[in-house]
Amino acid sequence: PMVRRQDYSAPAYRIRAVELTFDLDAAKTIVGSRLSVERDTALPVQPLRLDGEDLNLLRVLVDGQSVSFRHENGQLVIDAPAAEAFTLEIRNTIAPEKNTQLSGLYASGSGLFTQCEAEGFRRITYFLDRPDVMTVFTVTLRADKKKYPVLLSNGNLLEQGELANGKHFAKWHDPFPKPAYLFAVVAADLVAREQRVLSRSGKEHLLQVYVKRGDLDKTEHAMNSLIASMVWDEARFGLALDLERFMIVAVPDFNMGAMENKGLNLFNTKFVLANAATATDVDFDGIESVVAHEYFHNWTGNRVTCRDWFQLSLKEGLTVFRDQEFSMDMAGSPSARGVRRIGDVRVLRERQFPEDAGPMAHPVRPDAYQAIDNFYTATVYEKGSEVVRMMHTLVGREGFAAGMKLYFARHDGQAVTCDDFAQAMADANPDSALAANLELFKRWYAQAGTPRLQARGVWDAEARTWTLTLAQHNPPSPGQADKLPQLIPVALGLLKRDGTALPLQLAGEAEAGGTERVLVMTEATQSFTFVNVDAEVVPSLLRGFSAPVVLDDGLSDADLLVLLAHDTDAFNRWEAGQRLAANRIRAALAAPVEAPVVLDDAFIAAMRALLRDASLDAAFKELVLTLPSEIYLADQIEGIDPQRLHAVRESLIDQLAAALHADWAWAFEAHQVKVGYKPDAWQTGQRALANLALAMLVRHAVATGDPLWPGKAYQRFKDASNMTDRLGALEALVNAHAELAEPALARFHAQFKGEALVLDKWFMLQARAPERDGRVFARIQQLLQHPDFTLGNPNRARALLFSLTHFNPAAFHRLDAAGYAFWADKVLALDTANPQLASRYARALDRWRNLAEPYRSAAREAIARVAAKPDLSGDTHEIIQRALAD
Ligand code: ARG
Ligand code: ZN
Repeated sequence: PMVRRQDYSAPAYRIRAVELTFDLDAAKTIVGSRLSVERDTALPVQPLRLDGEDLNLLRVLVDGQSVSFRHENGQLVIDAPAAEAFTLEIRNTIAPEKNTQLSGLYASGSGLFTQCEAEGFRRITYFLDRPDVMTVFTVTLRADKKKYPVLLSNGNLLEQGELANGKHFAKWHDPFPKPAYLFAVVAADLVAREQRVLSRSGKEHLLQVYVKRGDLDKTEHAMNSLIASMVWDEARFGLALDLERFMIVAVPDFNMGAMENKGLNLFNTKFVLANAATATDVDFDGIESVVAHEYFHNWTGNRVTCRDWFQLSLKEGLTVFRDQEFSMDMAGSPSARGVRRIGDVRVLRERQFPEDAGPMAHPVRPDAYQAIDNFYTATVYEKGSEVVRMMHTLVGREGFAAGMKLYFARHDGQAVTCDDFAQAMADANPDSALAANLELFKRWYAQAGTPRLQARGVWDAEARTWTLTLAQHNPPSPGQADKLPQLIPVALGLLKRDGTALPLQLAGEAEAGGTERVLVMTEATQSFTFVNVDAEVVPSLLRGFSAPVVLDDGLSDADLLVLLAHDTDAFNRWEAGQRLAANRIRAALAAPVEAPVVLDDAFIAAMRALLRDASLDAAFKELVLTLPSEIYLADQIEGIDPQRLHAVRESLIDQLAAALHADWAWAFEAHQVKVGYKPDAWQTGQRALANLALAMLVRHAVATGDPLWPGKAYQRFKDASNMTDRLGALEALVNAHAELAEPALARFHAQFKGEALVLDKWFMLQARAPERDGRVFARIQQLLQHPDFTLGNPNRARALLFSLTHFNPAAFHRLDAAGYAFWADKVLALDTANPQLASRYARALDRWRNLAEPYRSAAREAIARVAAKPDLSGDTHEIIQRALAD
């Protein structure tokens, strides 16, 4: 059934308070619920409809009396109760160990955990499971003390003690009214790292990071990240922690990254556990940003929540924006900020752009859904964050802080909409371009699709002007044929050909106002004339990626080389290099298959100059020297042949490895970290560049038969003092050197067989290796039979299955269609146990229509086979149906 945004109506009943009791047991948990319900007397009298799913109901009492009820459309319906306020008591049982969906109360390892967002609470007990019903929760947990020594729920611990028969109890109270999706329970055998901290007001808080026994030595970074997040939110937005206690709990089986339950954040172990020996720099980085993300939700999500799930980006887009800003501030230097921005845009363009161009395209604030879990998307999160970032650009840093302040002043304790947020931003900045164009700006929430922005500049030597003409066009999306112009902030600078920046003065202005500014585009076509321009210029447009659009600026390779050499904007400098590479890949794809792909000297010289430039950070160089990914390129090119694209890109990498051989050898030696391991921006950059250099050196050595670098890589793999270096060396071998890869993989497995998260890397590395002659695909089939493989753990399933279908196009898109058959089998296998995971997996073929033949037809056939399964879950059904819709 389709749920539509326009059908929203306020709830007819409110639940002011609930007392929950849990007799916890993996096989059968008894849930008692005592609800204080109030009817909204302003609305017509109507039945009370409670959500429930997979529950075994024992009893229902209204004010202590039994009452007649019925089941209708998966809801428990009680015909209009007489009183305006009454107590409803419900008792039901659930079976956590049978809950393979990992939504509601489920077993993981030897513990019990909950996941309630979006609609998991109804799998625990009957309730008004919607975000605009906010309730004060009091929770009593009873369980076997030996099996479940730790009993946690939201808020503050009121009492705990012993019970008969080896049981114990804990009673928790959360003073803040909250929607059911923020409820959480944990019962497990855990240990905690603890720290007491003061917030600026002088209030003391207890911070705890709970993990299974044996993992305490992997909690320091999560704790540090939590403390840094608290400090940052107070300093930047004046937002302090409002609870005495803040808990993070690591869960081994988890569908998503983490969950912001009030005061009790539950995390995928992947985003908590790290030490130098088991986690890479990328893992440390992920932990910092996910810990921050969930902590920031306490204000943007929990104190102010969503009115309905169509408003999901209200909390997610804003909170992603906040965690991105936090990570940038943590990175420190302007250059390190630039590196982070490039990373964020890469994610946006590799995940959100294809989504916005395919059958799942939807606005940041969707209009309709069948399964809300399908809309926890890159569009809602990452594009949503870009929409918030554009507001930030339009009102400035101070203005944005003022907008946040007004937002909380108006809406603290409420469930609101995306409109409410934008309105607060505009009202706090009445003189801004945002306030002047608020309705126009809000089209970013309403229109799906990635706008195309065309930009052409004309220099008039006589008039000494340079006129920039901008034109925008947003191609059709499902259900949205015609789009209106959107507000596009275009940050820009102008460079002379020698690389110096031009002072910018628009016609009509008294004087030049610096070398960078933001043009605000509000029409379909618009021109801007700059005066006092004495020479031909190269425009650096959309600096910092100031809007989530596809830019066509018509720049030549010569222009791009100027930007690559001189642009002061890190993002555009990197982008110039990516475009030069993409131009070469496109040209090779357009040439006859037998024509050799030859990388030109100009490109190689530019890359060498950049690699050798002493003024640049290693992290930035690593990004520039990495060619655009096959996934990004495939999104940009129509009728893609994934095999051909892979062959062309690999050949360019080979040439870069050969032509820069001496430079790579220098880079490897020059970027060794000689001090103790720290996952900071500088060390991370050194290791990233050294690992890229090593990969290039091994690749080239295999081509020439030289044993030196493969031998060095094996040594480094064996002797590395941290996981980043060890995995980097292993990857260099696995990707290029078939012989040394085998003993290295065996050794790695033996060394880390007790570490689930490291084993995930072991699977992932093999599944993501560059495909050659079908070897990677064959390896994946073998690994399915490995004793350590299981479909039941989402991280493990992602490490092997998603690595193939979502991250290794050349292994997946095979001429014999075996990749598609594999995909269909696994969608069906996952779907019976875990629909949320299955529907995410199913999205690997979203963009089948953009494939060249014979891939296209073969992909369609596989999708049709999945569609034919009669009892497909609602989640997967929605994805498949959209994929096949015309
Ligand atoms: N709110 C969580 C976060 O972004 C994600 C929860 C998603 N849950 C789901 N079932 N889709 O931090
Ligand atoms: Zn979130």
